[in-house]
Amino acid sequence: MARIHNGGRGGMHDGSGRITVQNLSKQFGPVNAVQNLSFTVEPGSVTGFLGPNGAGKTTTLRMLLGLVTPSAGTATINGRPHSQLGNPARVVGSVLENEGFHPSRTARNHLRVYAAAIGMPDQRVEEVLGLVGLSPAADRKAGGFSLGMRQRLALATALLGNPQVLVLDEPANGLDPEGILWLRNFLRAYAREGRSVLVSSHLLNEVEQTIDQVVIISQGMTRYYGSLDQLKKSRQSRVLVQPADVSVLVTALQEAGFTQVSPTPDGRVAVVGATVRQIGDLAAKAGTALYGMQEEHADLEHLFFQLTSSQFSGYPQQGPPPGYQQPYQQGPPPGYQQPGYQQPGQPPYQQGPPPGQQNGWGGQG
Ligand SMILES: Nc1ncnc2c1ncn2[C@@H]1O[C@H](COP(=O)(O)OP(=O)(O)OP(=O)(O)O)[C@@H](O)[C@H]1O
Ligand SMILES: [Mg+2]
Repeated sequence: MARIHNGGRGGMHDGSGRITVQNLSKQFGPVNAVQNLSFTVEPGSVTGFLGPNGAGKTTTLRMLLGLVTPSAGTATINGRPHSQLGNPARVVGSVLENEGFHPSRTARNHLRVYAAAIGMPDQRVEEVLGLVGLSPAADRKAGGFSLGMRQRLALATALLGNPQVLVLDEPANGLDPEGILWLRNFLRAYAREGRSVLVSSHLLNEVEQTIDQVVIISQGMTRYYGSLDQLKKSRQSRVLVQPADVSVLVTALQEAGFTQVSPTPDGRVAVVGATVRQIGDLAAKAGTALYGMQEEHADLEHLFFQLTSSQFSGYPQQGPPPGYQQPYQQGPPPGYQQPGYQQPGQPPYQQGPPPGQQNGWGGQG
């Protein structure tokens, strides 16, 4: 069989490997699954596409892959919608939820069928089996594969066309710790070759070490778009205080202008934006004893909860995630912005939080 020398990459599209999502929206009846979403994935980088269950991740990826028609906006690869890519398997490889395999077909045979369909030689089947670590199981039936093995087989299928762009929906699901480590190294190496990788997850810490850039969505809307480094920098430390009288301390703090004060599940008070010394002095003046103070740095997962909770969105509450802490004061102050929050109609916010942005814990700006 003749090889297609340019991998089907010539002519039809710009060959950049760039993914561009612009003002993308999708409604399913009354459900706004995706709302005015915009981001780009640059070649040579791994972008994490993060959001809780039902946030609209799969719907977005399906629109990008031409499986769902957008209600508005565009999703392109190499400047083209998926339907205009020519031989798309040579441009973009993808793994979506619930990939089905013929249960009685072996992994090798499954891959050979797909390879033939996209004009790749059988030799490529052996290569991708090796790449995903399935060579020893190549002649076993896919129906007997574990979840992790099925994930690997799906990834092998996506890699058959040696694509420039990889789009993976929750690829870490079902992988054991070794598999997650392997996937992380694989995706990083793949991006280092100048390819684009877009990978979704509902857990930030699962992909934290894999990704360069992050798009966080909730209820179909962008909550953060920017570099992971910038997101990490927007975290803040807080002080956990155990006062003799909670309400006396909270009042004293609020009167002194420290408004980011919230209770913790264990009965302490979490204070953002005040030093241990300031809190101690205020407590002394207010006449309540302190039995302990502890400084803590916000972890990324907590920040992720904050960004994706519907607390400040003005949309119906779905209830806070487990461990979410309700602030004492309800509602954000005027002008409150989440870090990296993308205002509708504005260009993506890449430079990190605005000056004076206070965030990372209580969400009280
Ligand atoms: N074909 C469909 N018909 C109707 N509603 C749909 C359809 N597909 C998705 N939705 C709805 O759109 C919203 C977003 O779903 P989507 O599957 O994109 O979320 P997700 O971020 O991938 O979630 P998960 O983490 O659970 O996979 C949900 O409210 C879902 O019920
Ligand atoms: Mg999904």
